[in-house]
Amino acid sequence: MRINKFIAQAGVTSRRKADQLIADRKVRVNGAVLTEPGYDVQPGDEVRVDGRVIENSGEAKKVYYAMNKPVGVITSVSDDRGRATVLDLIEDHDVRIFPVGRLDFNTSGLLFLTNDGDFAYHLSHPKHKVNKTYRVRINGNISKAALAKLRHGVDIGHFVTSPAQVNVIMWTKHSTLLEVTIHEGKNRQVRRMFEAVGKHVQELERIQIANIPLGHLKPGTYRKLNPDEVSYLMGL
Ligand code: URA
Repeated sequence: MRINKFIAQAGVTSRRKADQLIADRKVRVNGAVLTEPGYDVQPGDEVRVDGRVIENSGEAKKVYYAMNKPVGVITSVSDDRGRATVLDLIEDHDVRIFPVGRLDFNTSGLLFLTNDGDFAYHLSHPKHKVNKTYRVRINGNISKAALAKLRHGVDIGHFVTSPAQVNVIMWTKHSTLLEVTIHEGKNRQVRRMFEAVGKHVQELERIQIANIPLGHLKPGTYRKLNPDEVSYLMGL
């Protein structure tokens, strides 16, 4: 394996930065400063970066991020129409990460990204019923009957939603803000639930997944999930 890939896959840094470390003479192989950027690491080689031995088991290190997806980027790893994707917001990643589930182009809020297929599968599997909470803004107000329907379950076209938690957070003459918690993840589910009761969603933001809140992440920024959060989510 090429040295820059070896260093990147071990989770030290990106391939590009690994090349820079080599150019800066910070990489040693078997005790000698590496001068050949294209060096192929051999079994048994001892690779050090800044004096620290680098272990690479051959498997990409698992990474887990929580992002605040902004409106106007797509939740995909690439787009044939050239639109910005959530991956464009992650700097300096070398391993193949992908989003866990999906938020619409016009939805903002909490989105996990990872290179761990088991993690993504676990959180997305319907049997785990992982709660997701959304802030929903609609025009005007909402009737008690409509709230009762949303709470009970509505037909969104070939699918009746499970009971949802629906709370009105505040209202003005012009709009109403609600919090909705569901555990299903049908395409455009929240928007379609409100359409089913005659309401058009103006703004939609995911503010929590299970017990992980969006917190103070600014739109377009992200943080690493810590090991406790990852094991909690995997235990759901
Ligand atoms: N429900 C929606 O309608 N859109 C999303 O992006 C997420 C949930």
